[in-house]
Amino acid sequence: QNPQPDPAKLAASRAAVALVRDGMKLGLGTGSTASIMVELLAGRVRAEGLSLRCAATSKATAELAAGLGLRVETLDEIGWLDMTIDGADEVDPDLHLIKGGGGAHLREKVVAAASDRMVVIADPGKIVDRLGAFPLPVEVLQFGFETTRTLVRRALEGLDLGDREVMQRLKGSDAWITDEGNFILDLHLQAIPDPVLLARALSAIPGVVEHGLFLGMCDLAIIGKPDGDVVTLD
Ligand code: A5P
Repeated sequence: QNPQPDPAKLAASRAAVALVRDGMKLGLGTGSTASIMVELLAGRVRAEGLSLRCAATSKATAELAAGLGLRVETLDEIGWLDMTIDGADEVDPDLHLIKGGGGAHLREKVVAAASDRMVVIADPGKIVDRLGAFPLPVEVLQFGFETTRTLVRRALEGLDLGDREVMQRLKGSDAWITDEGNFILDLHLQAIPDPVLLARALSAIPGVVEHGLFLGMCDLAIIGKPDGDVVTLD
């Protein structure tokens, strides 16, 4: 799957997989870093005969994990999770995150919320002083899509963020459809001075299903370095 994984992502994944203990109930993230982690995890399970129960944050991860022999169940079958290991698009000094570059932030947030511990694995390029250079993904209903987009634009204006750019995410020339059958708006904001305020404003908009701001959810960030070392932030 990953013939030559990025060494920084590999280092972070390896350190996170080392935290896994026999009998754990785990949330599996989505994205290129999480995919490396899933492969390493499956390797440990094969080598050590660990007994794990896993809930995936996307159909793609569920398929990958099951294909590698991990026991994948629904979140409701498992219930509460000991730990979720997931990637991120941006990590700030307070361990606030932007997620959803892969369009999976809705399920990712539910799974993280159902976990005693959320561990983020990332390469150094994800570390930022302030969130917002990465376009903020917002999952919205297909029903009334243009209305919701207008309400999102107004909310940004109300927060003095202006209407930078609120772009519908596409896959080729078609709308991007999430695992839950929704559309995605990517908010090109350049910077988010007050993530808490923006998160609150977005959550209050009818038609917004979930945004990609993960505030106060990450317990530990493991940042891999190209030389194979890691730095941890908590
Ligand atoms: C998926 O929707 C995202 O939240 C990913 O976790 C995030 O985009 C990180 O992905 P990479 O590990 O591929 O950078």
